[in-house]
Amino acid sequence: MTDSADLFSAVTHASPAQDAIKIKALRAQLHRWAHEYYVKDAPSVPDAEYDRVFRELQALEAAHPDLITSDSPTQRVLGAVMQGLAPVRHAVPMLSIHTETDTEATGAQAFDARVRRELGLGESDPPVEYVAEPKFDGLAMSLRYENGRLVQAATRGDGEVGEDVTHNIRTIRQIPLSLPEGVPPLLEVRGEVYMRRADFDALNERQRERGDKTFVNPRNAAAGAVRQLDSGIAAQRPLSFFAYGLGAITPAAEGGPDFRTHYELLQQIKSWGFPVAAHVHIALGATELVAYHQQVGASRDALPYDIDGVVYKVNRLDLQRDLGFKTREPRWAVAHKYPAQEMATRVEGIDVQVGRTGKLTPVARLAPVFVGGVTVTNATLHNLFEIRKKGVRVGDTVIVRRAGDVIPEVVGVMPGHRSGYVKNFRMPSQCPVCGSAVVREKGEANHRCTGGLYCAAQRKEAILHFAARRAMDIEGLGDKLVDQLVDASVIRTLPDLYRMGLTSLIALERMADKSAQNVLAALEKSKQTTLPRFLFGLGIRHVGEATAKDLARHFGTLDAIMDAGVEQLLAVNDVGPVVAQAIHRFFEQPHNREVVEQLRACGVTWPEGAPAAKAPQVLAGKTVVLTGTLPTLSRDAARDLLEAAGAKVAGSVSKKTSYVVAGADAGSKLARAEELGVPVLDEAGMLALLGAPGACA
Ligand code: IVH
Repeated sequence: MTDSADLFSAVTHASPAQDAIKIKALRAQLHRWAHEYYVKDAPSVPDAEYDRVFRELQALEAAHPDLITSDSPTQRVLGAVMQGLAPVRHAVPMLSIHTETDTEATGAQAFDARVRRELGLGESDPPVEYVAEPKFDGLAMSLRYENGRLVQAATRGDGEVGEDVTHNIRTIRQIPLSLPEGVPPLLEVRGEVYMRRADFDALNERQRERGDKTFVNPRNAAAGAVRQLDSGIAAQRPLSFFAYGLGAITPAAEGGPDFRTHYELLQQIKSWGFPVAAHVHIALGATELVAYHQQVGASRDALPYDIDGVVYKVNRLDLQRDLGFKTREPRWAVAHKYPAQEMATRVEGIDVQVGRTGKLTPVARLAPVFVGGVTVTNATLHNLFEIRKKGVRVGDTVIVRRAGDVIPEVVGVMPGHRSGYVKNFRMPSQCPVCGSAVVREKGEANHRCTGGLYCAAQRKEAILHFAARRAMDIEGLGDKLVDQLVDASVIRTLPDLYRMGLTSLIALERMADKSAQNVLAALEKSKQTTLPRFLFGLGIRHVGEATAKDLARHFGTLDAIMDAGVEQLLAVNDVGPVVAQAIHRFFEQPHNREVVEQLRACGVTWPEGAPAAKAPQVLAGKTVVLTGTLPTLSRDAARDLLEAAGAKVAGSVSKKTSYVVAGADAGSKLARAEELGVPVLDEAGMLALLGAPGACA
């Protein structure tokens, strides 16, 4: 019997009882890893390992459908589409809390004074102990666990009756589907479902790319996701969760836990596997509440999620019971808000800014408005399509949002505030900075300046790209130095690099004699280059390293490339209409040609060759994969030879691969080729195929 047959029998002949044990073990493993990853932010295994075990579990479950349970990690997205959201009556009402909006200390002091009065404490009594927490800006959620299994997730609704959103909440990886042994048989964990800012930005970026509606803020995006009827959609909207309290729970008299303080309760919730914010602190009296409010306020922008204030809660649960409720608000808790991160203001005009990469961004000039703690007078409108979609015109009253370090943006128009007819905004056809033509490529939302290195807005980026290791490789010319050189007007265009002398370099702040000399030496050395490096360094849109090589090989000389028409450019390997247009347009601009001429005049030079197009295209249309170490040719040299003969060199073997060229120590690619019956060649065989001299035919 062969090894593989042994393995086969081991998998298929394991008894169902053994599989059941294995399934349990895999689930426990995955639960632990998911908890480390999503809750503790401390992954202990690579994603690939998680995926492997996940697939193993899926396979075992497929073989034993009867063993699938609702708390298995494979069962988060069930693909169920609801007809509507069913009402859920909360076993314990979900209350709201009184809000203090004073930005000063008074909010905390007023609350502490009220609590002390209600508790009958005098001036000589010690300070009250509170728990201070961030007030997460999402939506309240009640998670009901029975015998350790998540059975229901409900929104707050009116506090008495919410909506059943279990199907969507199950997709949130931070929310456990099952709890460790020993949890109370009935347990409702309450907290906030929210969306992290980075997840929100990425989601909106995706929506924008697809031409779908963008979301106004993380809270709205989260609320929309939670109320989806189709859990498949909710699963694509990355949600997070923080627990901050309990609802119904098995009473202590029936074996449930008996917490003394709110803090203790939070620690217990955390140990059951729920995320609890790290910023939860015990604070003594009003003074420490004020300090907490200030401290969290100062770090608010740096948090990865939105908060709209902080919450103070009396720590001792017996005191909470003594204080009780006033109508629908507890007397033992209060929310202390921060200034809003969204405000309404008027658009006074729309300007266009040119970014470092040439992207044109429309920016709304605003009547000054205090939002997110600063006065904002400009807000991004992203691009023309966003303006159209939101319907923003000059004179409109708009909602401006500033959260975190994110650039303030216009999120929407307040309806009914437009007075009379205002013309729709149009993108300029010429760059407002350099006057070059503005284009928008097919399928792109953004307009771009074609000025490239000529455009002052793009100067720094262009120089850095030119100096990059894979372009002209000018050592020591990094972003700090480029910033200094451009800001001090030592350099305006690329040729200026080769014109600057020691004196202008030494005149820069923090530039020592020795480093200045090193930079000049690196510049001198960079003058001897290659055509592909030079071409790549020019930063022509869509011309990466590979295309630069293809162009050099095809045309042989720079002049031939500069004079090529779109048709001729299209004849180059892998150059399509968009790339051909971009190259043609670049060299059509007189100022770009001038830059090239000046660089040559400064002594930048490279060996020029005959156009390689004459090489017989014996491998046209073929795909070749290189693997292992060849006896004489380097990987790059082999690739160049193959590409020159018209082959496409790919990184992985598939049925479509024409040949695999294998050298010493070839591994999985060789095995794969043999498996698929792809012809395998050695170096000599490859050279023979290319018809190279010296190789046997
Ligand atoms: S405690 C009885 N703690 O703020 C007290 N609420 O009106 C129940 N919220 O929509 C709430 N962060 O979802 C509490 N750390 C926190 C909170 C918090 C956000 C929300 C809650 C509710 C509103 C309270």
